[in-house]
Amino acid sequence: MNIRDENVLRELNLYPMWVRRGVPARQADVPVEVEAPAAAKAETPVAKSPSTVEIQNIPDVSTLDWTALKDKVRDCTACKLRAGCTQTVFGVGDEQADWLFVGEGPGADEDAQGEPFVGQAGKLLDNMLFAIGLKRGDNVYIANVVKCRPPNNRNPEADEIATCLPYLQQQIALIKPKLIVALGKTAATALLERDATLGSLRGTTHDFHGTPLLVTYHPAYLLRSPAEKAKAWQDLKFAVALLR
Ligand code: URA
Repeated sequence: MNIRDENVLRELNLYPMWVRRGVPARQADVPVEVEAPAAAKAETPVAKSPSTVEIQNIPDVSTLDWTALKDKVRDCTACKLRAGCTQTVFGVGDEQADWLFVGEGPGADEDAQGEPFVGQAGKLLDNMLFAIGLKRGDNVYIANVVKCRPPNNRNPEADEIATCLPYLQQQIALIKPKLIVALGKTAATALLERDATLGSLRGTTHDFHGTPLLVTYHPAYLLRSPAEKAKAWQDLKFAVALLR
C-alpha cells in the first residue's frame, strides 16, 4: 500500500487495520447487537437464487412514479417481513443521482428511523462516500434489497428478496443511475439474479439492464473484517475511475 492510499484510509477511518489484542474482531469493531448479524451474513451463501423461487404475490410496480412507488412500499404486506418490522425503509437521496449504493436490508437503527444505513455500518458508508468526494443525498441514492427489517437481522430469505426486488428495480428505473454499487453478496446476487461468491464478483464491471454494476464489501462486514478495508478502497477507486 502506498503512502497516499494509507493517508486516505486513515481519513476514512479505515486505517490502521488492527484489531484489539485478544478480542474477536466482531466485538472490537462492531456494536454487536446492531451490526454483527448483518456482518456475519456477508459471507453466508445464498441457498437459492431469487429467480428460482416460486412466489405468488410479486407486485407489478413497473409503471409507477415515485409517489405511487413510495405509497406502494409503505403499504406493502406482500411478504412475512412486514409483520415483524416497525416501518418500511424505502431509500434515501437524490432521485436523479449518478451513484446508487445498494445494501441488503434495514437493521435495528434503520427500522427505527426509516432511513437506510444510519447505524454503525452507515457511518462507515458515509466515510467511504466522503473518501471519493461524495455525500449522502448529493448525487447519491442509497437503497436496500429488502425494505423491511428481517427479524434479528437474519439474512433475507430468497422468497422475501424475490417479492421485494421489483421495488428496487423500479427505483433503479426511475433514478437511471450511471453506476450501481452493490454492497455485499446479498445485494450483488439479488441484482444479478445469480449466486456467486463476493470475491468472484469484485474487481469487474457487471451489467444491470444496461447500467454498470460494481460489487464491493458490505460496510458491516468491513467493520468486522478490517483486513478487507484496503480491498474496499480499491473497489471505490475502480468505481470513481469508471464514472470519470
Ligand atoms: N445494512 C444494510 O444492508 N442496510 C442498511 O440499511 C443498514 C445496514
